[in-house]
Amino acid sequence: MAGILEQERVGASSMAEQLLRNIGPIVLLGPPGAGKGTQSKNITQHYRIPQVSTGDLLREHVRQATPLGVEVKELMARGELVPDHLVCDIVAWRLREPDAQRGFVLDGFPRAQKQAVWLDAFLKFEFFETGKWPAWLPIVVRLQVDYNKLLLRIAGRRTCPTCGRIYNVHSQPPLVNEICDVDGSKLFIRDDDREEVIRERLATYERQTKPVADYYERLGRVVTIDGDQPVDEVTARIVQEIDGRAAAASEGK
Ligand code: AP5
Repeated sequence: MAGILEQERVGASSMAEQLLRNIGPIVLLGPPGAGKGTQSKNITQHYRIPQVSTGDLLREHVRQATPLGVEVKELMARGELVPDHLVCDIVAWRLREPDAQRGFVLDGFPRAQKQAVWLDAFLKFEFFETGKWPAWLPIVVRLQVDYNKLLLRIAGRRTCPTCGRIYNVHSQPPLVNEICDVDGSKLFIRDDDREEVIRERLATYERQTKPVADYYERLGRVVTIDGDQPVDEVTARIVQEIDGRAAAASEGK
């Protein structure tokens, strides 16, 4: 009996250690509608680390009409990128929070090469050189989805203003039309999810964010995953890659 209890204790503590291990930085790359937000929520739940979505952080500034929100509102409504220094400042602030010290999922950042270079330097100085993490380069997961499917996905997106859960009227509808399953809030359509803006956002991605994938490709950091699979299957593939890379990193490979 004592032996079984002891085994259970060891099992529970190694599970806790496993849950609390350092995961490090994870970057989700992909065009608008590829599923970055959807997958970030699943991955952060799995590893108990925070999602850092620059889109969500900026939308919150716009909603609260802060000086930053007022400055970026029009740019976002047109589907253009917000200036690098403004985005890097809010990311730096967020990554210094206590809940981000074991790792985080960056959703929507970096999306310009200057942001990627800034991120490398930030991670190196704040996490590697302070001895918090044994390495600093992120695991970069690129989600690939066909252009026409992206248009359909974004046009069908609905979001909960309270819990942030993402729905789709075609593929992941709520149980009750336009109402969040979790908290009963009325779902909303994002301002930048109008068709002409969607096309501009996709063009901006091609022009400014694809070079970020090339940058990480040269560093050998990119894992490309087919994002046109059921949500849970995409999550399982991402988790498999993160676990594999984390194990290799801890063995010094
Ligand atoms: P941001 O909020 O980052 O938007 P985005 O990159 O355009 O991406 P989306 O949120 O549209 O799509 P997603 O990939 O998260 O897909 P989702 O999971 O929602 O940025 C908005 C704006 O902020 C930018 O335009 C810019 O102005 C500014 N900004 C943000 N970051 C910036 C930065 N770093 N620098 C400068 N400016 C910045 O899924 C989409 C839909 O598909 C949903 O309905 C979902 O239910 C559905 N779906 C998801 N997965 C699947 C699946 N596997 N099968 C079927 N349906 C699925």
